[in-house]
Amino acid sequence: MCGIVGYVGPKSVIDILTNGLSKLEYRGYDSAGVAVNSNGKIKIYKAEGKLQNLKDLLETHRSEITNTTAGIGHIRWATHGAPTTINAHPHSCNCGKLVLVHNGIVENYKELREELKGCGCIFKTETDTEVVAHLIAHEYGKLNDLPKAVRAAAKRLKGAYALCVMHQDDPNMIVGTRKNAPLIVAMGQGENYLASDSPAIIEYTKRVIYLDDDQFAVLTPTSVLITDIDGKQVAKKEEILPWEPVAMSKMGYKHFMLKEIHEQPDVIRNVLSGKLPDITKPIVLDEVKLTKEQIKNLKRIEIIACGTSLHAALVAKYILEAFTNIPVDVEPSSEYIYRKTVTDANTLVIGISQSGETSDTITAIRQAKAVGSHVLIITNRPDSIMAREADSLIPVNAGIEVSVAATKSFNAQLIALYLFSMYVAEIKGSFDSSKIEQLKHEMMMLPQKIETVLSHEESIIKCARAFASYKNFIYIARGINYPTALEGALKLKEISYINATGYPAGELKHGPIAMLDETMPVLAILMPGSIVYEKILSNAEEAKARNARMIALTSAEDPHLEDVFEYILKVPAVDEYLSPVIASVPLQLLAYYIAEFLGKDVDQPRNLAKSVTVE
Ligand code: AGP
Repeated sequence: MCGIVGYVGPKSVIDILTNGLSKLEYRGYDSAGVAVNSNGKIKIYKAEGKLQNLKDLLETHRSEITNTTAGIGHIRWATHGAPTTINAHPHSCNCGKLVLVHNGIVENYKELREELKGCGCIFKTETDTEVVAHLIAHEYGKLNDLPKAVRAAAKRLKGAYALCVMHQDDPNMIVGTRKNAPLIVAMGQGENYLASDSPAIIEYTKRVIYLDDDQFAVLTPTSVLITDIDGKQVAKKEEILPWEPVAMSKMGYKHFMLKEIHEQPDVIRNVLSGKLPDITKPIVLDEVKLTKEQIKNLKRIEIIACGTSLHAALVAKYILEAFTNIPVDVEPSSEYIYRKTVTDANTLVIGISQSGETSDTITAIRQAKAVGSHVLIITNRPDSIMAREADSLIPVNAGIEVSVAATKSFNAQLIALYLFSMYVAEIKGSFDSSKIEQLKHEMMMLPQKIETVLSHEESIIKCARAFASYKNFIYIARGINYPTALEGALKLKEISYINATGYPAGELKHGPIAMLDETMPVLAILMPGSIVYEKILSNAEEAKARNARMIALTSAEDPHLEDVFEYILKVPAVDEYLSPVIASVPLQLLAYYIAEFLGKDVDQPRNLAKSVTVE
């Protein structure tokens, strides 16, 4: 969750660290800090709130930060201890010579703190991270060698961590290690970097090494040494990052979220490219390593994911079951990991994750792999932990998603899931081939249809203005668009903080209808196709009869809708199977414009982080 940058080299350490941290800031943080070795002394600067506060602080001290050799920086998403300046990283030992930044949660920090107090360590904070600083310093006192001290301390730690450490007496060195939290090494010319994610360093170099759990990196300006926990050198492959620095620009849009919503037509074209050559030809998914025999023998599919990715998984349940006749279970990763893992070699486990770094989903796929299931990962980050641990992969090619609220990655995941469902159906012969051809054709038309939705933003803006002052919202739908209702409600909650809930429309009268009156607007998703259209309409009428203000999201040309709904958000007609892709776009825009009217921090909503790397 926290962002880490480390640098050793001749450039201005402060500039490299603050620039790197600003590239991670989009992920949502509440305090920041840096430590630099300047004129042979460790200096620490920290500030509460946005990164700008730290930048302002550093400006006032710039004249004293000269002759820098190395530095570490951190932006924090508070777990242990409030988001205050004192709790911000870096943390240091008693003498202040050893400093570190940390991402993750050290579970045994309380026992370690008691032990270290007995050795004379004085604690200034309640954080787990400060304990690690004292622990490494304690080992350094015995070993007088920073890499050895970090390795010795790591043997005592339980939990998740990515650490970046430096010591005043080793002015040209930084040491990093990780366990269940991301950390990459990046190599420049006469300079080297550590970072929790590639946007922090991509401006300087694309050459990276992905550290595995329990590996240690010792960096000087001219060398990178990777070892295991016993200090034995490990040979690692250098890789080239698949991103361009331009991905981090707003390109004239007010917010990244709006830019990313507008990128969706091109994102869908990218996902389809090479995988859907022609409607008469089979789907091509080269990175799916399951044999035809294995696919034919699948007895069950389990999909695990969190948040928006979980909503994509719920849509996938409808299509996979319809196209392949294979039963599909969907579960939040955070629940999956605390149950017995009842899966086997005839169960395909699909993990969906934009970031590929979500801690709970990583744990879940590892559990499934351990009992013999083939793990397929659908992710936007082919450079992530999940992608690297997958048996099969479908990269979704949505480009870096900067806004904390996921938009384009959702639709990219959906397209990947449609392709996979058709791929399995074609191998099994389990779905009408002419219907698949028709759906392939319609999929190719989706970008144009989204462009039509995007060119009619005024009606959505008008609706957003009319409803921005409400404190509560209900979204209803049935069937394949029930997950779309959940996703629409999640978007509104995340960026406007309005209490929005998605319900299957048929569930309204089993409880939620009690809340309905003129203060509770109801948005109904009515996409024609199966029988559920009429059912949702009649549920909407029940809501209207309780004085709820009504909004419809529909592609139907149905004059009766005007009797029920005050606002009708129109989208182009589309096959019902594909309708979540089209229906999600006005919901993203509605959430965006409501948050805009309310003056919220759209791209970095409070309390949220883009990549949830702790449990
Ligand atoms: C989406 O808008 C959220 N920010 C969040 O729910 C997110 O989808 C969730 O944390 C899962 O992340 P992942 O897709 O990177 O695994």
